[in-house]
Formats: sequence, C-alpha cells, structure tokens
Amino acid sequence: MMVNNNVNLIQAIKDLKKEKNAIILAHYYQESEIQDIADFVGDSLALAQWAAKTDADIIVLCGVHFMGETAKILCPEKRVFVPDLNAGCSLADSCPADEFEKFIKAHPGHTVISYVNTTAAVKTLTDVVVTSTNARQIVDSFPPETKIIFGPDENLGNYINSLTGRNMVLWKGACHVHEQFSLEKILALKKEHPNALVLAHPECKSVILKIADCIGSTSGLLKFAGNSPSKEFIVATESGILHQMQQKNPDKIFIPAPPNDSTCACNECNFMKLNTLQKLYNCLKNETPEIFIPEEIQKKAVKPIRKMLEISEKLGL
Ligand code: 13P
Ligand code: SF4
Repeated sequence: MMVNNNVNLIQAIKDLKKEKNAIILAHYYQESEIQDIADFVGDSLALAQWAAKTDADIIVLCGVHFMGETAKILCPEKRVFVPDLNAGCSLADSCPADEFEKFIKAHPGHTVISYVNTTAAVKTLTDVVVTSTNARQIVDSFPPETKIIFGPDENLGNYINSLTGRNMVLWKGACHVHEQFSLEKILALKKEHPNALVLAHPECKSVILKIADCIGSTSGLLKFAGNSPSKEFIVATESGILHQMQQKNPDKIFIPAPPNDSTCACNECNFMKLNTLQKLYNCLKNETPEIFIPEEIQKKAVKPIRKMLEISEKLGL
C-alpha cells in the first residue's frame, strides 16, 4: 500500500510502531523527515548503545547496513530492519574480510582495532571496535608498546596516530563522501565568510583536517557547534547533520562544505539517502527487509563490540 500524503504516512508509522512495540533509531545523515520521526537520532556509538539497551521487540535502524548489523549482533533475539538493505557503506566495502584476514596474518602480534564501519565478518577478526567518538580513548587504553592494526579508514587512522603519537599499521580504506571535500572550495568559502569556523569529520583527508577548527564525530561536531560562541560554520561531513545543527541552533548559519568535482554545493551519502519515509513505513508494515546474521558470526562479532561499549561506559562516553 502507498500512503502518499506525508502527514498520513507519519501517523501510520507512529501507529505501527506502537502496535508492534518497535523503536526507530536514526543516524544524523538520514533525511530530515526520518530524523524527525525517530525515537532516537545519534552517531554510530549512540545507535549501538541504544540498540543494546532497548526493550522494544523490533528495531528499525534508519542508517546503513553495518549499523543494522551492529544492532542485530548486540540483540540477536530482536528483529532488526533497515528500510533499504542496499544502504551499504563505501568504507565498509573498502575492507573485504578475506583480504583483511591476510593483512592481519602478515602482521603477527598486533592487536586489531576496527572502526564500526565494517561488515560483521571483519568484526569477527577484530579485538575491539571503535567509532569516531571513542577511537582516541580506546587506542589510548592500550599500553604504548602495544602493536596495533587499525582499519579500515586510513584518514581516521592517521589522525589517531597524530593525536596519540602511535604508529598503528593502517588499512588503506576510505569513505567516498569524506574523501571528496575540496580544500580550494572550502578556502574560497572562508574568504566569503571570514568568521566561519570549519568543522570536519576525521574521515576527511588530512589537508582538510589541517584547516579545521574542530575535528570530531557527528555528535562531537554537533556539540561543538552548540557550545561555540561563533555564529557561522562550514561543515565538512555529510550534509544530513545540518538538520540537527540548524534545529538546535536556529540563530547560527551552517554551510555545507562543497565536494571536489560536482556542481552540487553539499555532500550527500547516496547510501544513507536510500532510506525514505515511505520505505520506513513499508518496512514496519511488511516487516521486511530484515537483518540476519549467522549465529557463529554473531557470537564472535559481539565480543569486540561489547568491549567497545564497556570501555566507553567506563570512560563516560
Ligand atoms: P559517526 O560515528 O561520527 O556518526 O560517523 C558515522 C559515519 O558513517 C561517518 O561517515
Ligand atoms: Fe559509509 Fe561514508 Fe556513507 Fe558514512 S558517509 S555511511 S562512511 S559511505
């Protein structure tokens, strides 16, 4: 059934949610209508934390596939849906599990730290998972002499190496959205808006991070924008975050950082934007598409995720 009118659609989603004891968790990169109807909107760490503690029977994870997998790994007894299962992640795709396994074997004696943007199979090869909110602190929780493999985001790995003085061995993966930001175009924007601060996600290239006034996860950038006395910001991460930034700070101006080779002024993750309000409705109504993880993989992959949640809790993150 198609529910064309947005008002009806929103009411229908609310009714289905109640009827089925479902919870809607949305990432900051989701389209604004989805963020507005979600029970919780957050970064990758917060989505995992919410999934781990919910008593809902159904979790609809409005985000990309690895986020749905993470929720399912943490709650194998619950049903987890992602409105469009084609919502992948170029960063997760840049790290196939079989090649990562060979990489690990080529570096014996190393602790394996993986960014949450990975498949469940890669998580089974991992000692501890991190997100951009806790990566620095989790790396710091290991003694300085620990030999570490960090994957798959090379930009984030280089950034953490620079912060911690470590020399982690890095897998050379990247996100196609964050790699795209243009230094020249950001500098041109700064000329037009001399008081604007640059906010950048650590998945951006080092040339962008070098000129950033704040480097942080989506939630970190959002918090910084709220606490800063500045009124203008150039935002070098996926443009979906601007919805929350603008909602929480109506008196401030947020300008999306432009990508390199596009006529578009913003930068969108085509995977994140596959989820729509209509697909969210269909998914709740028809209880599909669902995330399934083989038990053997779930049992191994849950360990490094739980480890991340435990360390994060101790650190108050
Ligand atoms: P955050 O954990 O900062 O929300 O990042 C998720 C992501 O996919 C960044 O591209
Ligand atoms: Fe993956 Fe990049 Fe999209 Fe984030 S923005 S979900 S890292 S492709």
